[in-house]
Amino acid sequence: MTKELIKMSIQKVIWANFWKNYQLPVEEMGLVVENFREHTPKVSTNICLPPFVGDPCFKDYSILISLIKQLNPSTILELGTAHGNTVANICSESEAQVITVNALPEQIDGSIITFTLSKEEIGKVYRDNGYENRVTQIYENTKNLNILEYIPPKCVDLAFIDACHDAEFVVNDFFKILPALSDKAIVLFHDTNPSVKGHLLDSYLGCMYLRLKNFNVRQIPESSLAYWSARQSITNSRLISKGMHKIFYSFVTLFYGGDEKFIRALRWYASVFMRGKQNKKDI
Ligand SMILES: C[S@@+](CC[C@H](N)C(=O)[O-])C[C@H]1O[C@@H](n2cnc3c(N)ncnc32)[C@H](O)[C@@H]1O
Repeated sequence: MTKELIKMSIQKVIWANFWKNYQLPVEEMGLVVENFREHTPKVSTNICLPPFVGDPCFKDYSILISLIKQLNPSTILELGTAHGNTVANICSESEAQVITVNALPEQIDGSIITFTLSKEEIGKVYRDNGYENRVTQIYENTKNLNILEYIPPKCVDLAFIDACHDAEFVVNDFFKILPALSDKAIVLFHDTNPSVKGHLLDSYLGCMYLRLKNFNVRQIPESSLAYWSARQSITNSRLISKGMHKIFYSFVTLFYGGDEKFIRALRWYASVFMRGKQNKKDI
């Protein structure tokens, strides 16, 4: 009993430290999207982004389109095509070439996968709207993706991570696309919000884990989007000192071994220690 209590107390301390030190800083909207404005989707069939589905207060769709107008990206990479609504709207609002990845039913695994779609359903909306010649469709589980088989290194200016939202996949997806990102690239992580309610928890955990790995992932306000910029790629640790960060990092590596084990433990800690405490400052 005492042994269990000690174990639980240690786990609680690990979680409290992780939560305190690696929450995503919330960036000012103007520092991410210089000229944010509301955009109305030109294609609405099977739309997947807030405010049109999910939280009506989130501005994900307009943030994405405003960012595209600002960056004028030549190549956009999306992980998680679904029916292809976002690809269709990207094509209607820009000149970019789009690479998009979705697993076929027999390839898919993970928990938070949103849809299992047939080959005909994946990307149907952008094909129906006549954008097939602007799009490279990849059918692959992102876990097995070697993006450089399809595109040259450093060519992607904007990436949208929106496939499996399990934290392990979010971390995997970020590392899988890194070699394809240009020096000015921005990566958006969908379904990520500090409320960590329901489906918003796992991607947020994944992004916190990337901060532990020194990647400067930040939250975009009024949205379920986090972002990482190649121009400000490395975090200044929010821990009191970089030494503390190193100690925490070494502890995690020593006791948990790899990314996957620690992320699984984090999910468990979150479910135990955050129950009934969401949004409170003391977690
Ligand atoms: C949230 S939906 C994507 C929505 C789309 N980005 C849009 O905005 O229109 C997630 C998609 O990712 C696919 N998916 C889930 N896990 C995947 C994985 N491991 N690899 C590739 N695709 C995956 C699902 O089949 C689903 O179609």
